[in-house]
Amino acid sequence: MARFLQLTDLHVVTRGALASGVLDTRALLRAAIDRLVARLDALGPLDAVLLTGDISDDGSPDSYAFARAELDRLQLPLLAIPGNHDAREPMRAAFADTPGMPGSGLVDWTVDLAGTRVIGLDTLVEGQGGGRLRAESLALLADALDWPGPVVVALHHPPLHTGIKFMDAIGLENTPALETVLGSAQADVTVIAGHVHGVYHGRIGQHAVATAPAICSAFALDRRDSATVGFLTGPTGCAVIDTAPGGVWSALPLDPAEGPYPF
Ligand SMILES: [Fe+2]
Repeated sequence: MARFLQLTDLHVVTRGALASGVLDTRALLRAAIDRLVARLDALGPLDAVLLTGDISDDGSPDSYAFARAELDRLQLPLLAIPGNHDAREPMRAAFADTPGMPGSGLVDWTVDLAGTRVIGLDTLVEGQGGGRLRAESLALLADALDWPGPVVVALHHPPLHTGIKFMDAIGLENTPALETVLGSAQADVTVIAGHVHGVYHGRIGQHAVATAPAICSAFALDRRDSATVGFLTGPTGCAVIDTAPGGVWSALPLDPAEGPYPF
């Protein structure tokens, strides 16, 4: 069975820029990769890195080149889908040689690794924050679910409502269509996503849904209509996914911390 790192919402900007005028996301990604590289031995064997979108904040070729160079330091296969901040063609160009990356069209793919089938689905609708699954993506999913082992479905926009109004307003537009396709699956399916810059666990039908913390920032869980539309600088992190029987989904914080202290 397979073990993956999930990295999401890197929001890398072009050289010299700051995301939302505040965050140096290039430095944040470099620091996150530094911490991950230092922890790879402790984490044990990994089969791939799943990138669940918003790799870039501005869609610039320079942002993708920087992200790719940093991610390559992990020395693991990279499997990437776009988020709402991404630009499909520059992203495709930077990740053209990664497993499953199609040469044109939507960035949907199926990659089998260590007995686990990973299905990446493209929810990007360029020019808007919310996401949508097209009929062709849902058809690919329906075919790919015929698999005897564990299945991980990766998409940027989670089929969940966090209660954060400004994020729910730009969520996945057609969750019922996804639920219908997944409802026919016999496979053991886990749906993973990003976009909400925090850890949320829920269900779509009988299947588990988990979102990973973002590399660059976090959104406060503030369910009030008056919640400030904005982000916090942390907690940040990524996730570790183990598809073996009894395997767990773990959030891996990447904020600086001291220790371990003996007890
Ligand atoms: Fe997003």
